Amino acid sequence: MIKDLLGRELRDLRISITDRCNFRCAYCMPDGESYEFFSRQEILSFEEITRFVRAIIPLGIRKVRLTGGEPLLRKHIENLIQVLSGLEGIQDLSLTTNGFLLKEKAKVLKEAGLKRITVSLPSLKDEKLSYLVGKKVKVSQILEGIEKALEVGLRPVKVNVCVAKGLNDDEVVDIAKFFKPMGVVVRFIEFMDVGNLNSWSIDRVFSVREMLSLLEKHFELEPVERAYRGEVAERYRYKDDGVEVGFISSITQPFCGDCNRLRLTADGKLLTCLFASDGHDVKNLLRSDASDEEIRSLVKNVWSLRKDRYSEQRLELLKKGIALKKIEMFKVGG
Ligand code: GTP
Ligand code: 5AD
Ligand code: SF4
Ligand code: SF4
Repeated sequence: MIKDLLGRELRDLRISITDRCNFRCAYCMPDGESYEFFSRQEILSFEEITRFVRAIIPLGIRKVRLTGGEPLLRKHIENLIQVLSGLEGIQDLSLTTNGFLLKEKAKVLKEAGLKRITVSLPSLKDEKLSYLVGKKVKVSQILEGIEKALEVGLRPVKVNVCVAKGLNDDEVVDIAKFFKPMGVVVRFIEFMDVGNLNSWSIDRVFSVREMLSLLEKHFELEPVERAYRGEVAERYRYKDDGVEVGFISSITQPFCGDCNRLRLTADGKLLTCLFASDGHDVKNLLRSDASDEEIRSLVKNVWSLRKDRYSEQRLELLKKGIALKKIEMFKVGG
């Protein structure tokens, strides 16, 4: 077990397996910008990713999440899942997707050993969804993916809803109402200032408190005790059926104090914060004849020097007019 400078243990690894995406979400990768993507050679192979994960399990990694860009764009992702899901020590393997390819992929993902999945869906209206994700998409296509995931037995299925004021805050109650009877766990996320391109401003943040007070007009909710230290979502359950709903309040109630997450980018950089400006290269080591011990050593060094707490510093930085150059969300992986 290793601790950073603020006493936080390393537990959770989030792996971005591609920086490419078939969506252009307004809050992540706005349409109309030109994007440069990693070349094929720059991207870690599944073997390199697996080797890395295996090497650092002894440091305390228990939870792995695959992200992107859009992870289902990576060919034969099921091969990676198959190997990772069989690694001893990994208690939880999950994946975040935009759902566009989920209907066709859910079965192979499940068969490869994936237990659960999270789908991002910011609206239940075709036109709004298409606007928000920067592509003509029908809500039904994503819903069919979610239904397929449930049908093949992925549990729980969670739906991430990034909520921005004036964009989709009017849908909070409808989204909750829609997914509750399906037993799908919705997680409402405050719009964050990730990257540099999404025109974030504090005025566009719809706070978790505001979301909760809207929901409490329609449902009886009770708080659920957190399952482990460092849990990102504040969880509630509907009193009548026990279905859960979560809130992620990175802006108004930052949770850096317990942050135990390390991120690996598709091109093999270690990031110690979602809002990092740069990373520590591990690819060169993976592509040399370095031993697992050397890989662990690098991670130990990086983690032991970590003191990131961006979300707690954000408002102070804003006040001082300091704008950091951050890596874009689709490269970090959320
Ligand atoms: P579960 O394991 O299912 O509870 O999910 P999780 O806690 O790993 O959360 P998930 O990956 O679903 O994250 C949801 C969203 O929360 C992400 O897409 C980010 O927007 C935000 N988030 C996750 N981790 C962090 C973090 O370390 N810092 C901040 N500021 N936001 C985070
Ligand atoms: N603020 C909050 N959440 C975001 N996501 C992407 N960009 C932002 C942002 N600016 C969320 C998406 C998706 C996950 C990968 O990150 O909703 O669920
Ligand atoms: Fe793609 Fe996800 Fe970013 Fe949307 S939030 S552009 S789906 S990576
Ligand atoms: Fe962790 Fe950085 Fe998010 Fe704080 S802002 S919770 S340190 S990833």
